[in-house]
Amino acid sequence: MEKNITSFEEYKTEYAKSINAPEQFWEGKANNFTWQKKWDTVLQWDFTKPEVKWFEGGKLNITENCLDRHLEQRGNQTAIKWIANNPNEQSRRLSYKKLHTEVCKFANVLKNNGVKKGDRICLYMPMVPELVIAVLACARIGAVHSVVFAGFSAKALADRINDATCNILITADGGFRGAKITALKDISDEAMKNTSSIEKCIVLERTKSKIVMQKGRDVWWHNEMQKASAGCAIEIMDSEDPLFILYTSGSTGKPKGIQHSTAGYMVYTEYSFRNVFQYTEGDVYWCTADIGWITGHSYIVYGPLLSGATTLIFEGIPTYPDAGRFWQIVEENKVNIFYTAPTAIRALEAKGMEFVNPYDLSSLKILGTVGEPINEDAWHWYGSEIGKDNCPIVDTWWQTETGGIMISNLAGVTPSKPTFATLPLPGIQPCLVDEKGNEILGNSVEGRLCIKYPWPSIARTIYGNHKRFKDTYFSVFANKYFTGDGALHDENGMYRITGRVDDVLIVSGHNLGTAEIESAMDQHKNVCETAIVGYPHPIKGNGIYAYVICHNTPENSDSLRKEINDLVTKQVGAIAKADKIQFVNGLPKTRSGKIMRRILRKIAAGESDNLGDISTLLDPTVVEEIKITAQ
Ligand code: PRX
Repeated sequence: MEKNITSFEEYKTEYAKSINAPEQFWEGKANNFTWQKKWDTVLQWDFTKPEVKWFEGGKLNITENCLDRHLEQRGNQTAIKWIANNPNEQSRRLSYKKLHTEVCKFANVLKNNGVKKGDRICLYMPMVPELVIAVLACARIGAVHSVVFAGFSAKALADRINDATCNILITADGGFRGAKITALKDISDEAMKNTSSIEKCIVLERTKSKIVMQKGRDVWWHNEMQKASAGCAIEIMDSEDPLFILYTSGSTGKPKGIQHSTAGYMVYTEYSFRNVFQYTEGDVYWCTADIGWITGHSYIVYGPLLSGATTLIFEGIPTYPDAGRFWQIVEENKVNIFYTAPTAIRALEAKGMEFVNPYDLSSLKILGTVGEPINEDAWHWYGSEIGKDNCPIVDTWWQTETGGIMISNLAGVTPSKPTFATLPLPGIQPCLVDEKGNEILGNSVEGRLCIKYPWPSIARTIYGNHKRFKDTYFSVFANKYFTGDGALHDENGMYRITGRVDDVLIVSGHNLGTAEIESAMDQHKNVCETAIVGYPHPIKGNGIYAYVICHNTPENSDSLRKEINDLVTKQVGAIAKADKIQFVNGLPKTRSGKIMRRILRKIAAGESDNLGDISTLLDPTVVEEIKITAQ
């Protein structure tokens, strides 16, 4: 394994090299992997198309790099340490050797069920080792995995299956989450009623819930594994072959299937994992994200396994059976590196120190956060009460589309600053631009965050819709990747992410599209029009505030609110439920009919005295009414 960057000076030298000679820089990193054939060209790119190709001509399989190449040196080392939702249930440990065997076997199960290279496979599973096994089995045979977070509804699952025309769905009878069981197979059955592409549904037994197995279509994971042979040669993939699709919200109701490639994603997730977390041999690493999100893909599965690390996977939630669960797991497993979301930190801080104090957290060396801006108070609490003032905190900014961490301090190596993601990783060339796309140079400035140059793990397309990919990310500002985030620069050039500047809402670190929630609400027969905005929420970062126009004045506002939220749960998932619903008679619109969300955001935030210029509105009187009835 390559040596990590170990000093600020070295970071600066490496950064300069990566900018002055990017191809040489990344070629050096790529040389650390096992290739069936090395590349012909390091990078070809054209942001106007957009087209980005890394290591073209190279042939490889990412699972050979995650598993096979470690077997000799670390076959018996723990690859996955799994902790069950229920503290009384036995934890599980899978060595690299065992994980390799299971992946090969399940890859054969997929083959036996007709899967071929290039097929799209949907995974709708709880946080169990079998999810990682299934992900890697897809990659081993060149199938494209599309993991759908197990909190999404049947409708959301069906939409994602249909968009990618998946032919296999892998799910479980149910999933344990806190005191609840999620009926994953029932939801899958509901989804499959509205899909025509699924030929086989492979069902893992987890909760022993009563489910219906449809003959000819549904098969049990354990039965199939019994029939499968052990060895499975890797499928030899091209560098640019797709590795996976992962859906993320956009500014229309339709989620975007972000597609990542094989070689570039591999090189960047390994490099960023080791350097940001300063991973050293033998560390126990725990990322609390769900594998259904990009953080889980890159920093539970691929980054750690590529680096030969021990990655801890937790099935449950931070507050079950009580708010000390995370810290108990840290103590019992001597976790060294801990990576979580600001929402979890704030929620646990709010529960009080009596849930932290009983546990010995002295194994912790490095703390990380991801997914949303972290407020200063939570940053300090995390560092002092969890890290005992002894652990650097890495504030990692990145996105589903970037594949890996883009702006972050390197733990204990480059400087940190509360609420700042700080400096770009080597190879990353961020810039701030004004509304017209002109780069704002110098320090102490604020603007829209763009990236000027390709990095290996940049998304390659939106599945089935390259035009949307271009329009969303590469056409807003010419020749730059637009992140959708606003950011500022301090006097030392450190970046602070200020939040989304588009219609995407980050709620509890989850990326939700306002349009997707609005269209779910609009399906209620009494709902005429809706507008969703975010408002500051002490735990979730952003709460969801819905302004709703009804056809008829509701007889019982609370029961209508419940019906509307039930619809959202059904259409999208419980994470997208509105925290507040205000019934209004009109929405502030411009003369061209565009909703002025800026005004709605201010009212939702309780800042209605400071609405700015509203004279351009078609009917400014609606604002007065909204102000009076605000929640
Ligand atoms: O707004 C930024 C926020 O999360 C968005 C990306 O969401 P998603 O694709 O779901 O990926 C989340 C996990 C990587 C970004 O556009 N975001 C992510 N990390 C941070 C952040 N905002 C502030 N600080 C961060 N560290």
